[in-house]
Amino acid sequence: MEEKIIDESKQGQSLTLEAKEGNKRKLYIESYGCQMNFSDSEIVASILTEQGFNTTQHLEEADLVLVNTCSIRDKAEQTVRKRLEKYNAVKKINPKMKVGVLGCMAERLKSKFLEEEKIVDMVVGPDAYKDIPNLLQEVEEGRDAVNVILSKEETYGDISPVRLGGNGVTAFVSITRGCDNMCTFCVVPFTRGRERSRDPQSIIQEVNELAEKGYKEITLLGQNVDSYLWYGGGLKKDFKNASEMQKATATNFAQLLDMVAMAQPKMRIRFSTSNPQDMTEDVLHAMAKHQNICNYIHLPVQSGSTRILKEMNRQHTREEYFQLIDKVREILPDCGISQDMIAGFPTETEEDHQDTLSLMEYVKYDFGFMFMYSERPGTLAERKLEDDIPEATKKRRLQEIITLQQKHSAYRTQQFVGQTVEVLIEKESKKSDQDWSGRTPQNTVVVFAKEHYKPGDFVMVKINDCTSTTLLGEALGYSENN
Ligand code: SAH
Ligand code: F3S
Repeated sequence: MEEKIIDESKQGQSLTLEAKEGNKRKLYIESYGCQMNFSDSEIVASILTEQGFNTTQHLEEADLVLVNTCSIRDKAEQTVRKRLEKYNAVKKINPKMKVGVLGCMAERLKSKFLEEEKIVDMVVGPDAYKDIPNLLQEVEEGRDAVNVILSKEETYGDISPVRLGGNGVTAFVSITRGCDNMCTFCVVPFTRGRERSRDPQSIIQEVNELAEKGYKEITLLGQNVDSYLWYGGGLKKDFKNASEMQKATATNFAQLLDMVAMAQPKMRIRFSTSNPQDMTEDVLHAMAKHQNICNYIHLPVQSGSTRILKEMNRQHTREEYFQLIDKVREILPDCGISQDMIAGFPTETEEDHQDTLSLMEYVKYDFGFMFMYSERPGTLAERKLEDDIPEATKKRRLQEIITLQQKHSAYRTQQFVGQTVEVLIEKESKKSDQDWSGRTPQNTVVVFAKEHYKPGDFVMVKINDCTSTTLLGEALGYSENN
């Protein structure tokens, strides 16, 4: 299992839209980093379609190149810098091409980007995408254009994103933006701003539209979905005071799940990411109540040591995390659980590291995303703590974490052998054009012979064999969900 945020094959993928007639200009847009960036690029593409742009897969013919960037680790930023070099080479052939930087690096570096990277014409932070048409105007008039203003309200709830380059089966729907948690290692609160929740009605509307278009699974996205809270709606004059109004009109995450699950009972519902400090039992009960909410929780912990968790400003102890895991297992016995882990956070001792390994041993995660600590400018950890764990030690600890995770993943997949599971077919298997690839509700990948089935079908698959990451099986027939 490698270090990764999402499917590595998606990193840097350029997106294609159905062409809109009459649109003359060509947009090349590619994304790095988290699912939220991929989802945001769809919003940006929708905005630009209204401005006369159609997407292209060919960098050489683009009038406008946009790169949606990630700042989470230094390596992610280096990848983007390399791409800018590539654009520079292409600009020599196509001098009219304009280049815009979107996302977290844009927010972090602001106008410094224009000085550091001469190729860049436009810098747009995650809350300023609606301003792109104006910024483009400025660029066309020969001025550099920067908008990195963060918003307390913007949720893009009114923009119905055009789905790009996807499989037509699964889609992301964002429900919150920003993060208020201030984990000391993390740059996200600085680059994506304050946390805000999107109007549940606009979420339901987007989900309904996706269902109409034939989508079968949605993932509700947020940095911290459990803190979703919408308290808009309702007329103020109908309530005696503000707290009464809030109580009467508030929708929390468990309620949102309930609403979405009932709006589309045939659709699979997933969500990401959950934060242990905010996840409530209500959410687990909503999952148990609705068969279409997948029994899978991405529950990052970052470290197994209570002392390190405190240094990271994560608001729970090792023991509280165990209690939460026990609750999950009690309410949802077959729930898949995955982790994010950071190796070599400042001051991490060998004992702290052993605590991480023993926590993993307790949970036996289905899979995980594991990283070496990367110091990020401006974060509390950067300001208060020395990045004092030698690179070699970080590497060794990360390797130990990955090796243990591989063992646990193998253990988890092995449990499925002999069972029959429901799979939603997503795409052709990477390894063979004779096979389909899909996932179980627990998010484990399943590969099986195509026969007469097609992407978007729910199929019952008998699992005959497995690797540490993939289940191998044979289709028995359509599931009743089909
Ligand atoms: N709540 C977010 C977390 C975003 S960052 C979510 O939706 O997933 C994703 C993961 O990157 C974190 O969980 C953490 O494990 C890792 N990460 C964040 N900052 C990091 C840093 N400075 N160094 C190494 N890994 C980091
Ligand atoms: Fe980052 Fe912690 Fe929020 S990891 S995105 S500050 S929950």
